[in-house]
Order: sequence, then C-alpha cells, then structure tokens
Amino acid sequence: MKAVVTGGASGIGAAVTEALLGRGATVAVLDLVPERAPRGAPAIACDVSDDASVRSAVAEATASLGGLDVLVNNAGIGAQGTVEENDDDEWHSVLDVNLLGVVRVSRAALPHLRASDRAAIVNTCSAAALVGVPDRALYSATKGAVLSLTLAMAADHLRDGIRVNCVSPGTADTPWIDRLLATAPDPAAERAALVARQPTGKLVSPEEVAAAIVYLASPSAGSCTGVNLTVDGGILGVRLRSPRS
Ligand SMILES: NC(=O)c1ccc[n+]([C@@H]2O[C@H](COP(=O)([O-])OP(=O)(O)OC[C@H]3O[C@@H](n4cnc5c(N)ncnc54)[C@H](O)[C@@H]3O)[C@@H](O)[C@H]2O)c1
Repeated sequence: MKAVVTGGASGIGAAVTEALLGRGATVAVLDLVPERAPRGAPAIACDVSDDASVRSAVAEATASLGGLDVLVNNAGIGAQGTVEENDDDEWHSVLDVNLLGVVRVSRAALPHLRASDRAAIVNTCSAAALVGVPDRALYSATKGAVLSLTLAMAADHLRDGIRVNCVSPGTADTPWIDRLLATAPDPAAERAALVARQPTGKLVSPEEVAAAIVYLASPSAGSCTGVNLTVDGGILGVRLRSPRS
C-alpha cells in the first residue's frame, strides 16, 4: 500500500504514519514541519492552504512512492470562540486549512488514486462536527463541512473505485491538546475536566484513532464508503447517570 498522510508529523497523523509503516505500507508525510515526521517515511514540506505547495508536494510524493493507494487528509488547526469572537480573517484562515486543505490535496491526488485498484481517502473529522461544544463555533463548522464533503466525495468517486470515509475523534491526547492546556489558567484542572467529560474516563489515544483510519484505508473495509467512524470515548453515544457509574 502506498499512502500520503497530511499532518503526519505530529499527534494523530504521526500515529497513522507509524501504523501504516508497521503494516508494511510505504508512506509519504506532507506537513508544515516535515522534520518532525516519524522515521521511515519520506517527509515533504507542504502547506495545505497553498495550492501550488500542495500540487508540488503531491507530485513529489507520488513520484517517490511510485503511485498512490491511500490519502489521509489529517492536517488541521484549532480555533476557540463563539460566533462573535472570531473575525473574518480567522474564519478564512481556519477554513483554508481544515476544509480547503482537504479539497486541494484530494484534487491533486485523485488522478493518482484512480489508477489504484484499492484506492481510499480517509479524512480526519471531529466529534465536534456532531455535537455542540462551547467556544468552538468556527472549528466545529469546519469539521461539519469536512463531514459533508466526505459524503459528497464518497458519492462522486464511487464509480472511480475510490472509497471516501472519515474518522471523528473525541478529545485525543496529542500535542494539540498539550498546547490547548498550556493556555488554561490551571492546566492540570483543565485536563482533569476533559478526562471527566469522557464516559470511558480517559482521553482518546492517537493510536486508537490511527487504528480506525488504517481500517477504513485498508481493503478489509472494502464495503465502507461514506462512513463516519467515531472514536470518542463514548461522548456521542453513551449517557451515564454520573461519571463512570
Ligand atoms: N487532538 C484532538 O483532540 C482532536 C480531536 C478531533 C479531531 N482532531 C483532528 O485531528 C487532526 C490532527 O490533530 P492532532 O491532534 O494530531 O494535532 P497536532 O497539532 O498534533 O498535529 C497536526 C499536524 O498538522 C500539521 N499542519 C497544521 N497546519 C498545516 C498546514 N497548513 N499544512 C500542512 N500541515 C499542517 C502540523 O504541522 C502538525 O504536524 C486535525 O485535523 C484535528 O482537527 C483532533
């Protein structure tokens, strides 16, 4: 299997890269900070918010891999605030990465994926696409759009032989969350509150999300297209009477 993972140098993307490498895949990482990518995967500098950068990185990756079977659109950035609190520039810049980044990389990758007999795209969405979370208006809207785009692409490219699915993580224990906690007045209390929100009593691990992405990317998910697989510690599907009862 030949795979490209965007945002593959950190957190969930790095775990996906490691998991794919562990299954014998060849993987190219496209990331703003390629030098942090896991060993064993050629890493190419790419800004998914810049079409020229994406086209050149996808061309380099597919040439180095000798084709493409799997695209994991995982690069993403966060935003905090209500609908009153993010200005137009921030809306444009976060949409540019989280939504248009998926569009640009998919557009550049599709001609290569059409040539594969086991082609799949997996987008990293978010539980925030499916449930209201305070202070995440912009971020949630970008991920809601990723979910809708996933379904539309699954329909458009079914007859090209390309499956398109997404995975929606809950709060996952990655450097992203570490950065978020660092901005809280009491990071330890904030982490405890995030953990307490999880019915499972623990944050989601990047490896758990990666396992779901690798499944949807693999031929064993050959009947899955237009699927959104949540990996969220139960926050969407489970109601407990009190924490962990
Ligand atoms: N951590 C969570 O709780 C969580 C929950 C739900 C969804 N997600 C989603 O998972 C994905 C990965 O998040 P993570 O927690 O691993 O974050 P992370 O910050 O650890 O990793 C994100 C990676 O994306 C790269 N990136 C950012 N902007 C880019 C750009 N413009 N072009 C190319 N690369 C870029 C970064 O350099 C980094 O390597 C994101 O799409 C995020 O929205 C994360």
